[in-house]
Amino acid sequence: MATISLEKIVKRYGNVPAINGIDLEIADGEFVALVGPSGCGKSTLLRMIAGLEDISGGALRIGDTVVNSIEPRDRDIAMVFQDYALYPHMTVAQNIGFGLKMRKTDTQDIIERVADAARMLQIEPLMQRRPAELSGGQRQRVAMGRAIVRRPKAFLFDEPLSNLDAKLRVEMRTEIKRLHSLLGRTTIYVTHDQVEALTLADRVVILKDGRILQEGAPMVLYEAPATRFVAEFIGSPQMNMFDGKVVQDGGPSVQIDGLILPFARIDAAHGTPVCLGARPEAIILADTSSTDVVTKVEVFEPLGSDTMVSCAIAGTTAVVRLAPEEPVARNMDLALRFDRKKLHLFHADSGNRISAI
Ligand SMILES: Nc1ncnc2c1ncn2[C@@H]1O[C@H](COP(=O)(O)OP(=O)(O)OP(=O)(O)O)[C@@H](O)[C@H]1O
Ligand SMILES: [Mg+2]
Repeated sequence: MATISLEKIVKRYGNVPAINGIDLEIADGEFVALVGPSGCGKSTLLRMIAGLEDISGGALRIGDTVVNSIEPRDRDIAMVFQDYALYPHMTVAQNIGFGLKMRKTDTQDIIERVADAARMLQIEPLMQRRPAELSGGQRQRVAMGRAIVRRPKAFLFDEPLSNLDAKLRVEMRTEIKRLHSLLGRTTIYVTHDQVEALTLADRVVILKDGRILQEGAPMVLYEAPATRFVAEFIGSPQMNMFDGKVVQDGGPSVQIDGLILPFARIDAAHGTPVCLGARPEAIILADTSSTDVVTKVEVFEPLGSDTMVSCAIAGTTAVVRLAPEEPVARNMDLALRFDRKKLHLFHADSGNRISAI
């Protein structure tokens, strides 16, 4: 069983803390994405799991075994890095088989496993080339091939696609998903690209300053972010944020500039400073009876699948997602309504979610 269990894991570089006590249970075969801003500790955590970095405190288990002091090569885990780290003087086939050769695997076995990986990754015609003769995407496949042939219990990926252009990233993303469903191995995938995390993972873990801020299925994080930070980190374009305050006199509402949005219930005292979050799809076209705000189209971007419109709402520039068939023109009047079911309220100071319906 390749469950991976982190119990109160801590990492300090000298006196500087990088990981501040992380508890995480990863199930056998699960695909978990670690996301967070630069420097939050993603690579450090992954390198500790791989055994490339000492653990300052806590227990790391693979299956039932505590592996804190077990050598990387004895952990039966393969890691794929951002920069591929291929040997330039070796062919693709030699690169993929190298790790097995170092482990003194039987030659016939190496040949078979390398051929298997090449077939899986669709790189059979490239096997005699050297890394310099490959595209970025092909190099990334070779790096994955090197991990696959080891038939490890788990795969660790550290931003494996960040050196690729946008189109290739999407292609390789699909490839990684396909490999995961084919091999069914426990996978931990580090990225700072939230779209990659949401599309690939069964579960997304959001890190900040060496701590877990929130974890959950992609749609849970999208629909119920526990903090303003998570709300703004997940989703593209970003959630619109409006500064306001809670009014409890004469029925609960949120007052933003001149705009008053009534709610059925808000779990915060009168006068509490809040931030109201509305994703682009939570602000919708309104008819005269339901209009919250009238504004003008400032900029619009037809994307084919939908049209993104920028407009001023209560002193903030907001992005609204409209259906592609809606006629839109610059300076056109827009009557809009906030979809109450899709709004989020956060405390302005702590950033914590406030319950409101
Ligand atoms: N060898 C090291 N010595 C001292 N501090 C380090 C070392 N490696 C990392 N750090 C620090 O630990 C923290 C976490 O670094 P880490 O590389 O894990 O971040 P990350 O989340 O992977 O960031 P990025 O998205 O930029 O790759 C950072 O503050 C970093 O400066
Ligand atoms: Mg990193």
